[in-house]
Amino acid sequence: MSEVDERAGGSGEQSSTAPQVSRRSLLKLSVAAGVVGLMSSARKAEAKLVEIGAGAKSIVGYGWPWTARPGEKIEFKVSTYTPGEYNASLVRLVCADAITDGGKYYKEEPVAASFAGKHMGRHQALYRGAFAQIDDASKLDREDTFTLVASVFPTTVKRGSELASAAFAPGAKGGGKGRIQHMVSRWHEPTRTGWSLALDENDCVAFYVGDGLGVDKVALTEPLALRRWVRVCVVYDGRSNHVSLTQDPVPNGAGDLFARRPSSGGGTVRTLIQRGPLRFGAAVGEPGHGDIAQAAGPFNGKLDTVRLVRGAVEQASVAKLFSAHQPADFPGPVIAWWDFARGTGTIDVHDISASGLNGKTVNLPERGVIGVNWDGTQLEWKSAPAHYSALYFHDDAMVDAQWKTDFEYQVPAGLRSGIYAVRLTQGAAEDYIPFYVAPAKTARKAPVALVIPTMTYLAYANTVGVTSWTRTKVTVDAQGKKKVEEEEWMPVYSEDKATVDFFFQHYDDFGMGVYRFHSDGAPVRHAPMRMVNLSDRPKAFRKHLTGDTDIIEWLEHDGIHYDIITDELIHREGVDLLAGYTAVMTGHHTEYLTWEMLAAYEKYLERGGRLMSLGGNSFHNRISFHPQVEGVIECRKQMGGTSAGNDLKYEQFSEFDGRLAGKFRELGSPANTLHGLGMTDLEPMTAGTHYRRLPGSNDPRARFIFEGVAGDVIGNFGKIGGGAVVEEIDHADFTNGTPPHTLVLARSENIVWPMVSEDGLTDPKYQSNFNPRAELVFFETPNGGAVFAVGSMGWRGSLSHNGFDNNVAQITRNVLRRFIDSRPFKLEHS
Ligand SMILES: [Fe+2]
Repeated sequence: MSEVDERAGGSGEQSSTAPQVSRRSLLKLSVAAGVVGLMSSARKAEAKLVEIGAGAKSIVGYGWPWTARPGEKIEFKVSTYTPGEYNASLVRLVCADAITDGGKYYKEEPVAASFAGKHMGRHQALYRGAFAQIDDASKLDREDTFTLVASVFPTTVKRGSELASAAFAPGAKGGGKGRIQHMVSRWHEPTRTGWSLALDENDCVAFYVGDGLGVDKVALTEPLALRRWVRVCVVYDGRSNHVSLTQDPVPNGAGDLFARRPSSGGGTVRTLIQRGPLRFGAAVGEPGHGDIAQAAGPFNGKLDTVRLVRGAVEQASVAKLFSAHQPADFPGPVIAWWDFARGTGTIDVHDISASGLNGKTVNLPERGVIGVNWDGTQLEWKSAPAHYSALYFHDDAMVDAQWKTDFEYQVPAGLRSGIYAVRLTQGAAEDYIPFYVAPAKTARKAPVALVIPTMTYLAYANTVGVTSWTRTKVTVDAQGKKKVEEEEWMPVYSEDKATVDFFFQHYDDFGMGVYRFHSDGAPVRHAPMRMVNLSDRPKAFRKHLTGDTDIIEWLEHDGIHYDIITDELIHREGVDLLAGYTAVMTGHHTEYLTWEMLAAYEKYLERGGRLMSLGGNSFHNRISFHPQVEGVIECRKQMGGTSAGNDLKYEQFSEFDGRLAGKFRELGSPANTLHGLGMTDLEPMTAGTHYRRLPGSNDPRARFIFEGVAGDVIGNFGKIGGGAVVEEIDHADFTNGTPPHTLVLARSENIVWPMVSEDGLTDPKYQSNFNPRAELVFFETPNGGAVFAVGSMGWRGSLSHNGFDNNVAQITRNVLRRFIDSRPFKLEHS
């Protein structure tokens, strides 16, 4: 095996070669969704990486915003990893596939831009870690004797980690971080000054006091247990400088895994200094990009019921501090009483005492998560805030990289709409920052718009590189003896060596989409646009952005006048954006949408619009945007969609908008009602296959679709797995919303196993239980509209076959020609 093969799993056999340590640890964290990859394991040596001409990557960047109209401005932020200048230029992407057949399809067009030319490079750091900060905590400055309580739920500690399922907590398995995790603090790490209630290196509750000359620490001796609540109390007596600590485990049922006991301890420390901001979930670190300093010693886990009162509260009264719901319920002088449930869906943190020590969250600690008082009777944070009163901190959270702008681009009037990219080169290294130009609002609309599903690109952000599962392999030898073994299965997602190498080096750096996991094993729910997204680059991958340029390439080959718009723009502008287009096409993977986007498509069809749905697993998962922090989506999945399928059933209401999360079909709006198809829960990731025409294709209503199409077999060719049916697929289901007059025109056959389900791999033994299929459908809608849907992500990969002279391109061409003809369709039943 060459080095490339070893690192990327170039051989699909996964035989006896032990993976490298670095790769294995990466793989554990990237147990990616059952919806990634296009390469086989069971089939040999398909996962070759290619070198597409660029040298080792040393430059990356991102743009903000992603979508602009003429006259609007985009800021570009660049970071270099080797010193020196770099060059920037602008291109329009026509076909971004530089992998297939040695890159013969790749096409970019140079575009003049004011920023083009040399720029001095600089490295821009990335700061991560979620916390909350009360900027002005000066009301605490005179508090010299106080009692502080908090309910604590740690998620990266060693105790119990050996019992945590690898599926739930792949990052946590194997132990804690072995570092200090600051929970509630006025601690300034650069000078080691102030105080902090923290977990120490041994995962024990500790209280630190530092004055710049030295640090004193008082700690308990029983380490906290993984994912178990404990009530913690610290009393500091300013007269004697004595610190008392107690911890009181919250019972977790009679069968609690851990024999946890209340414990206490104490000691004397140097005089406590009250200074600077108060933080939850981290201490104050070195300066960051903006006004707020970096997180120091970030905490992984949840905090709840954080209360601060004057004086030393007797142990007998501490329980009351935890159980009282508001300051008035506690018979003592309250300094601060934080209610983390209040402000869920915002960045605001509320002190409900008279002190008004309110704060803001940074990097969006999760909210709408169950707290210490959740009792199993409640499911919705909005109606039961007392049960969802925790903040959940992650040390790797980042919702805005906050890089400085290196140059701007004002989209000139008259620039055609399209997918553009800033091409950055530094020596032989290159990177592309894509962005999307929609037509001017005043421009005359083209007959058809192609909607770029940028939010699906975001959901998959940085799910690049090599991903893997373990699966069960069943073989039968020549003697008929059955052998069952576990094997590593590695679809390769990135196909360019330079990108994979860079990805290996910076896997943890660039922020995450919703197929990634936090360092404590929790699925990522917040995906930010303002960061480097290595998954939506041209050239290196053949999905997402590159997959959608396969459609652009075909449109341009056929000389069709089209506009490019984005789903994000639909979210903002609704049906008004779609109105005026005779037909609208969606890209090869339009999986993630907001309610607003879905409603716009529905209204467009109600008004007689025509929808060509040219992808697989479309209109499937619901997302929402944060109301205050721009460019961050939330995605919670009720049951599946991540490989571990581990989002919690009792946290199924979105934090950002309070509405039920999940797949649209779980929410009563299955994709079937919109475009006739719903997701097939098994995906042929390993190789493509074809459709075969059904009797529906001979219906007079469908005649226009098959004009000039000979034979029954459709799409038994294509650059993605060799067939038009590959990757994520959909089928008609009349019991699940497919309109009854839908014509099912063609159906896949001979789908290749093994397949991938949304929740991971599916053993071949299940083959007999399913009839996975992709189907091609057509139906008319009231008011003269119509819908055509292909039900496969692979459709786009067949368009260019044989110089665009093939039945997939011909069908698409026929449909488009009729769909942009304004003559109304008649709503007929066969
Ligand atoms: Fe997907």
